[in-house]
Order: sequence, then structure tokens, then C-alpha cells
Amino acid sequence: MLSHLGDWRRTHMCSDLNSKNVGENVCVMGWVNRRRDHGGVIFIDLRDRTGILQVVLNPEINKEAHDIADAVRNEFVIAVKGKVERRPEGTINEKIPTGEIEIIVSEIKMLNNSKTPPFMIEENTNVGEDVRLKYRYLDLRRPNLQKNIIMRHNLIRTMREYLYSKGFLDIETPFLTKSTPEGARDYLVPSRVNPGKFYALPQSPQMFKQLLMISGYDKYFQVVRCFRDEDLRADRQPEFTQLDMEMSFIDKNDLMDLIEGLFVEIFDKIAGVKIQRPFPVMTYTEAMEKYSHDAPDTRFELFTKTINEHVANCGFKVFSDAIKEGGIVKAINAKGAGTFSRKEIDEITDYAISLGAKGLAYIKINDDGLQSPIVKFLGEDLSNKLVKLMDGEVGDIIFFGAGEKSTVNLFMSKVRLDLGRRLGLIDKSKYNFTWVIDFPLLEWDKEEKRYAAVHHPFTAPVDEDIPLFDTDPLKIRAKAYDLVLNGSEIGGGSIRIHRSDIQEKMFNILGLSKEECDLKFGFFIEALKYGTPPHGGIAFGVDRISAILAGADSIRDVIAFPKTQRATDLMSDAPNRVDNKQLKELSIKLDIIEEK
Ligand code: AMO
Ligand code: AMP
Repeated sequence: MLSHLGDWRRTHMCSDLNSKNVGENVCVMGWVNRRRDHGGVIFIDLRDRTGILQVVLNPEINKEAHDIADAVRNEFVIAVKGKVERRPEGTINEKIPTGEIEIIVSEIKMLNNSKTPPFMIEENTNVGEDVRLKYRYLDLRRPNLQKNIIMRHNLIRTMREYLYSKGFLDIETPFLTKSTPEGARDYLVPSRVNPGKFYALPQSPQMFKQLLMISGYDKYFQVVRCFRDEDLRADRQPEFTQLDMEMSFIDKNDLMDLIEGLFVEIFDKIAGVKIQRPFPVMTYTEAMEKYSHDAPDTRFELFTKTINEHVANCGFKVFSDAIKEGGIVKAINAKGAGTFSRKEIDEITDYAISLGAKGLAYIKINDDGLQSPIVKFLGEDLSNKLVKLMDGEVGDIIFFGAGEKSTVNLFMSKVRLDLGRRLGLIDKSKYNFTWVIDFPLLEWDKEEKRYAAVHHPFTAPVDEDIPLFDTDPLKIRAKAYDLVLNGSEIGGGSIRIHRSDIQEKMFNILGLSKEECDLKFGFFIEALKYGTPPHGGIAFGVDRISAILAGADSIRDVIAFPKTQRATDLMSDAPNRVDNKQLKELSIKLDIIEEK
């Protein structure tokens, strides 16, 4: 029954056809989305990547074609020839572009059959993500994923066209390379011809793009895969795509200007949304104080506030002890949350605890006074003062977090988002961009007991802060900028260190010995000595931007073949064991306890 294509050639994609084509003879090909038998006449919804087209097989027109159609099932691949006709009155489907017409089939070919798919190929499937990932090639047939993948194509195309128009060169950089420190673990690749030696897959092309500036290429970009072995989340994949850029002879404002133009273009072309320029700019300090996070969601205005000075000596030991131990106490006024039930308050508290909080204190402002588990410790006066400080009014609940600084900021930022959601404050139609600037250059790594770069070690310090290297390194500001969209860090970059002496100073303060420095970055420091122009750049998370544009909760929904949270590919079953022979060639012996 199966046929070859023979001399049949497709004349149209499904959604190319509409009432303008009525009367034409056409040939279309695709998958059987659905087949219905209406008293002898068979209707097939034929699907290709453009959409769905109704084809009709009437036994009175061609008995043989009708009989073939009788045997087709969902996901069979067919080709039909026939005439475009207007659908009879009352059968028009306004929901699809081809809804006014149908193809009255004269000939049909069954090009292939299909096993019954493990789930329906339709917009909303309730099958688990594991099954969808195992049969990703079927999942990718679903209209919503096709929409996302095609949107992503258009996004990348828009990025490329914009940068070409601004004189950027698209230059590839190696994947088999030496590690660039972006803060995650490396994926290593053993070298067969250099036994015992390994390449690192790039966490980003950072050093290469800077070397291209040294080489005089001036404006570089690349849509490039990056590899990071880190803990995965909904917005993190082990391999992900960056729009990576670098420019010479520029300062921060030139770059911000260019990038704002890029995003205005992207949102206009892809989402039909007009974005206002210039984008708001916020300092890191302000973001951390008001949003408790360096990627602030500015779509709503509940703000966190540090209240250390007011509670340092208060009678609630949880607060005063936190401050004594060098921590912080922060408050947030959930305006109108007075309607929350006891259960909801418990849920919010449990959520904070799941993020490392020891508890989440609150004061609820009722008509008849304050309701709270902590007023008895704080005393009436201080409680009233805090309510006033937080603009508390009847019907509000003020939540408090106390403890170690980074923990409090983490859970208070998440509680803020949770409150925003519960109170219906987040307008999903908004696209709020914010630049975050004036990051610290360094942070203190408590576990390793050394300074660590907040971005990466190639980020330049603010000029007037350079003397602080010798006096107060944590106060040095970086010439770094992140671009945040609706609370998601979509990109980050910086003006770079272009002097080898300062680059060495930076590596020194990060605790790299001269030997380590030479071993890891010697080539780079050497290169900086050969006439390095001032330069800077940025990289954007293409997956994250796609997810926001698609309204997807996870970047997995905008990646054709994503990995699970455990960095596995459920379809091909990667990573997997390899032959001993392969290991031997690589001079590798495994040291693992075999599971039974
Ligand atoms: P950074 O490490 O900030 O900068 O990365 C740039 C952007 O890439 C995205 N991103 C990710 N997306 C998905 N999965 C991941 N695991 C992941 N990690 C990062 C984020 C982030 O903002 N070389 C520097 C850039 C520069 O300085 O020019 C860099 O890689 O959206
Ligand atoms: P307790 O005296 O332990 O019952 O705590 C009184 C209130 O303080 C409860 O509402 C706790 O949720 C809250 N609480 C406990 N520890 C913290 C903390 N570290 N930060 C904020 N609130 C806390």
C-alpha cells in the first residue's frame, strides 16, 4: 500500500492555501492529524509545519482514493492531489487560516504509515514531560512547540540582521579549548593523541572574543553554544546558547545604546510590542535593597527594606541576634494581603523555609490592632514604629526575614515574587527592561576563604576605584552591566581590563599564584601586552529571551532537544557508558563502584 513520491511534487504548504486559490488544482503533503468518516465521505485534517488543511475523499469521485484514505490513521504521511473548493455554508472554521476552503481529492498516495504515538499530537497534552522528552521528535510536531522553535529562528535571524547592519563580523571560536573561568565546572574532553590531557568545552568564548579585539576585528558577534556543568534549574541548561558580542574603542554607554536598539527591534518584529528607550538603569545596591535580588522584576512595586538600625537592640532575639552575627533583617509590606488565610501565610512561610529561612515573621494590621506572633517580643511601641516605617495600613501584612545576608536576600526576593503573584500584581503583558550597573568587582568566598570575581576576572574596575585593590577590595566597583527583563537576567557583560598589569593584579587578588596564572592564562596576559585596544562586550541568553517571548515557564520549551534537570537526554540516553576499548585509547581507567 505504501507508495513512493514518484513524479509527484508538492505545490503548496498547507497554510499557503485560502479562498484566493479556489478552483486551482494543487498537490499537498503532510501528516494525518485527524481522520473522520461522515457517512462514507472521509475528512482528513492534513498537517505540516504551517498548519492544518482539510482534505475530502468522496467515494463517488474516486473510489480507489477513498479506499486508501479509509486505511490511514493518525500520523500517517500522505500526499494528495485535488481541487481547492469553498467549504459549504455552515462548515467554515474561522479559527484556522485555511478554514474557508477544503481540497476535494482526486488522487492520494500513502507515503508512510506510523505506529500509534504515545500521546496525541495536539496543543495541550497532559502527558508527563519525561514521555515528551523521550519521544521529543513527536513532541516537536505539536503546534505549540513548532511555534516556539520557529519564533526562536526568527529571533536569531533578527539578532543577526541587526548586528550585520551595524558592521559586526560573525566569527567562530573553538569548542575544544582551555577553560575560561565563568564560575561553573567545566565539561572536559580527553585528548587521545595527548594521553592524560583534556580540553575544556567553553563556558563562553570570553578570552577568544577579547583576543579577536587584540587582533583588530573591532566588532565581533557569534550565536554560540556554551557549556557549563552546574546545578540545573528551569532557566539553566548544561549547554545553552549565547548571543556573544565584543567591541573595541567603546564605553558602557555606546554598548547600552546599541543593545537597546537591538531589543527594540526584536520586540517589535517578534512580539509586535513597542519598547520605550532609554531603558531604566538601577545600581546593584538599589536592586539588592529594594528587590533583594540583582535581577529585579520591576513589573510591580512591593519593596523590601533593611531595618537593621531599628531592630538591632530589640527584644526579639531572632532579629537582634541575626544583626549581632553580622546578618540583616529585612521587611516587606504586602499591601492588601490582610485577606490571606492562615493557610496562605503558612504556605508563604514554608516556601521561605524551603529556601533556607529559619522562619518568616509577620505583623498583620487589623481594624482592631496588630495581629502577630512577634509583637509580644518587639513591644507595642517598636511594632507601631515598624508599621509606620513600612507604610502599613489596615489590611496589610508586613513580613520579616532575619539571618545571614545572602540567605535573607534570597528568600525575601522569592517571597516578594510569590506575594506579587498571589496579590495579582504582575502584569504579564508588560516587558520591563532594566540595566543593573555598579556591581562590586569582587566578593568574599567563605568556603574557599578568598576573593572571587562577581562576573569574571576580565571585568575592568571603575578607574577611580583601582587604588582600593590595596586597601578595601570589596569596595571596588566593576564596569559591568547586566540586562534584566521581567526579573530574569537575560544578559551580562562589561568593559574589560585592557592593561596587562591590571589583569595581573586581578589574578593576584583572586589568589592565583604566578605559576598558576602562567599555566592557565599566560598566553592571554602575554597577548594583552601587544597593543590591546580598550574594549568591552556582553552576552545574552538566547534560550531565556526565547522563553520570555514564548511565554514559556522553562527554557526546555524553546530548545529543540533539551536535557533534563539531571543533564540527561531521555531520547538518545546520553550520557552513556563507552567501550573499554575507547577508554583504553584515551588512557582512561574508571574508578567507580559498579552498581549491581
Ligand atoms: P554570563 O555568564 O552572565 O556572561 O552569561 C550570559 C548570559 O547567558 C545566560 N546563561 C544561561 N542560560 C541558560 N543556561 C545556563 N546554564 C546559563 N548560564 C548563563 C544568561 C546570562 O545572562 N562571557 C560572559 C559575557 C561577557 O562578559 O561578555 C558570560 O558568559 O542569560
Ligand atoms: P518563634 O518564637 O520561634 O515561634 O518565632 C516567632 C516568629 O518568628 C514566627 O512567626 C517565626 O516564623 C518567625 N521567625 C523565626 N525565625 C525567623 C527568622 N530567622 N527570620 C524571620 N522570622 C523568623
